[in-house]
Amino acid sequence: MTDHKAIRREIIEKTVLYYREKFASAEFIPGKSRVNYAGRVFDENEIVNAVEASLDFWLTEGRFSEKFAEKISDFLGIEHVLLTNSGSSANLLAFAALTSEKLGEKRLKPGDEVISVAAGFPSTVSPVIQYGLIPVFVDVTIPGYNIDIEMLRQAITPKTRCIFIAHTLGNPFDIDAVMQIAGEHDLWVIEDNCDAFGSEYKGQKTGTFGHLSTISFYPAHHITTGEGGAVCTNDSQLAAIVRSFRDWGRDCYCAGGENNTCGKRFSQKFGDLPYGFDHKYVYSEIGYNLKMTDIQAAIGAAQMDKLPAFCQRRKENFNEWRSIFSKYPEYFILPEATDGADPAWFAFIVTLKEGAPFSRDEIVRFFNENLIETRNLFAGNITKQPGFIGHDFRVASHLSNTDYIMNNTFFLGTFPGLTGEMTAYTESVLKSFIISKK
Ligand SMILES: Cc1ncc(COP(=O)(O)O)c(C=O)c1O
Repeated sequence: MTDHKAIRREIIEKTVLYYREKFASAEFIPGKSRVNYAGRVFDENEIVNAVEASLDFWLTEGRFSEKFAEKISDFLGIEHVLLTNSGSSANLLAFAALTSEKLGEKRLKPGDEVISVAAGFPSTVSPVIQYGLIPVFVDVTIPGYNIDIEMLRQAITPKTRCIFIAHTLGNPFDIDAVMQIAGEHDLWVIEDNCDAFGSEYKGQKTGTFGHLSTISFYPAHHITTGEGGAVCTNDSQLAAIVRSFRDWGRDCYCAGGENNTCGKRFSQKFGDLPYGFDHKYVYSEIGYNLKMTDIQAAIGAAQMDKLPAFCQRRKENFNEWRSIFSKYPEYFILPEATDGADPAWFAFIVTLKEGAPFSRDEIVRFFNENLIETRNLFAGNITKQPGFIGHDFRVASHLSNTDYIMNNTFFLGTFPGLTGEMTAYTESVLKSFIISKK
């Protein structure tokens, strides 16, 4: 009889062969193959890990989750990493944590104002509305696409309690200025690091400056677990609160499968519950269940080993796009990194100059007809989105750059799956488009 270890070895060997047969070679045929803006990049290690985790059949947070979180923690240089089922969940949890009664007078309350931008992704803003606070939208600058610092200063009122913004498309916002303003006004800062995992500001990784930060592992991002995300913090109290919100609101912090790690499971008093009520079933927050599975974490653990090389490829692809688009300075505004930043670019973002003889929609349509994927800067101007109209928000002063971006901006991918053949093909398509407009 074959023992289960031998069967397992055989399955893993076959998995490696399967990867090589099914995925290893993908030929690019110009005009026939798609130039995607993003996509998962992986080899046999991710599939082997996913299979290993499936064969463990532990399913919930387990050995791979521990490994994945530790790798993120080491990469960023941050103490606490809480894995979640998406970047949006991470944003929700980071924000929810700041509403906890455990923070006393520092907690966020309904009616408080939270500074954000309207040129971004919706789930950076949704939690603010979901918790009854008021998003205050500040305009962004072009060509950095991050919050305008002067306008941020002017947007602050006695009701302002928090700044919740993303490092747009991997480009860090002016972190020194934001943290200084936050310090002066005693504001919480949440960095939405979903598009910037691996970016640096003055030699330090983004996601380590604010009180809390978030990551997304959706396939478009720097690494993937399919769906997935994380909340990061150096603050032990905030980490405990995030964990509680993530794990049904429970007070107990034992890992899955563990019991009584505090040694006081049956000897404490909580709320109006009887003394000694099982701590495992004490709920100190109105929580969710937004945890990651061990199969996702297993994929993430393998992806983490590739992250530095992925970031390098993103920077190279960004530079390749820059050299292509800089041939047409009369039409395009090219992106610029924030002073002191070294972005692991999520994308190459382009804005049409006023007076260009074509519209954003025309060029984007032409690219798409030629199988080259583009995207807009997410929601454009979020205040104009149907789901956001009618909600309580404030526009700090004006959103003229945001509106300009909504109408004139698009981006191409920089993901590591993008090759020189793809950028060369795109360059030829761009050239034929420009010639047709002259
Ligand atoms: C800036 C930003 N924040 C949050 C998210 C949400 O991440 P997820 O898709 O994992 O929910 C995204 C998604 O792409 C994003 O770009």
